[in-house]
Amino acid sequence: MGLLEAYLDWKGQALRALEENKGLGVEAGREVVVCGMGGSGIVGDYLASLSTRLGGLPVYVVKDYRLPRWVGDESLVVAVSYSGNTVETLSCYSEAVEKKAKRLVVTSGGRLGERAKRLGDPVAVVEKGPAARAVFASLFYATLAPLAEAGAVRVGLRELETAARVLEPSVEARREAESLARATSGGRVVVFTACCEYAALAWRLKNEYNENAKAAAKAESLPELGHNEIQSWPSAAEKYTLVLLDPGEEPHTSLLQGAAGIAGLESYRLVLRGESFLERILWGSLVGGLASIKLAELRGVDPAEIPAIKEYRGRVEELLARIEGAWG
Ligand code: PA5
Repeated sequence: MGLLEAYLDWKGQALRALEENKGLGVEAGREVVVCGMGGSGIVGDYLASLSTRLGGLPVYVVKDYRLPRWVGDESLVVAVSYSGNTVETLSCYSEAVEKKAKRLVVTSGGRLGERAKRLGDPVAVVEKGPAARAVFASLFYATLAPLAEAGAVRVGLRELETAARVLEPSVEARREAESLARATSGGRVVVFTACCEYAALAWRLKNEYNENAKAAAKAESLPELGHNEIQSWPSAAEKYTLVLLDPGEEPHTSLLQGAAGIAGLESYRLVLRGESFLERILWGSLVGGLASIKLAELRGVDPAEIPAIKEYRGRVEELLARIEGAWG
């Protein structure tokens, strides 16, 4: 399956992941610590945003080799790795085992899947695809289903099922993606800007632009950027294109408009469609993903190839292999 084909199947991915990963019997614990990198790690950011917005347990995101020292047997450690072979995530998982934390593994296999099976830990299965970022809907829903069932995030399974409808690649979503890609194709650094819990979406789209389109991009969030970043914008007038992720709800829209008004930068407003927070971040993820693939085409690059990331992963694995017990 090609990369684009996988993105176009996100609704199917979400519904299959929901169906297949119920009844895993995950214990919620006192807090949820989500470990993962890149296209898998973003799941942690989305979960933290959901829990902030809808209620549930505190969610901590770890994009590192080590778990926070306070993690213990009352913590639920969720190790998310599409390939199951990411050293940072394997290392955190080993620590979770040592600390006797409650555990959930989300993966399509690899060393992480094998270890979890050997230890009898619950494994939420992610379907195989061309890349982690292309099976985002499977990763996210495979993680959400058992956590929603355990009451760790206050969202119902029925709500998850309904929200998946916005992952249908409608004519409108494709048109928005094309328009976003064209508006950001001028070679400037693309600054994805969002408010509050929508900041996770800005990070996701920045990563999509980096990986698929090989484009320079960054993520900034309000209200914080109004207290530092905004002061640099006059000097970046020729360098940045702002993309304002607007959920059409207050105070987010006013905050975005306030910043954009002062900025004087080239800007593009992406109105996030959907009936709920969850639907809007899902819809924004789809449109941003499709835009990054379109931008790759406009820039004449292959969205599937990520040679620098592969080289980095290889080098780090080699270096860490010399440190005994760096991962399991
Ligand atoms: O999108 C990608 O392919 C990367 O960002 C990967 O997700 C990242 O390197 C981590 O790998 P994995 O998702 O297999 O743990």
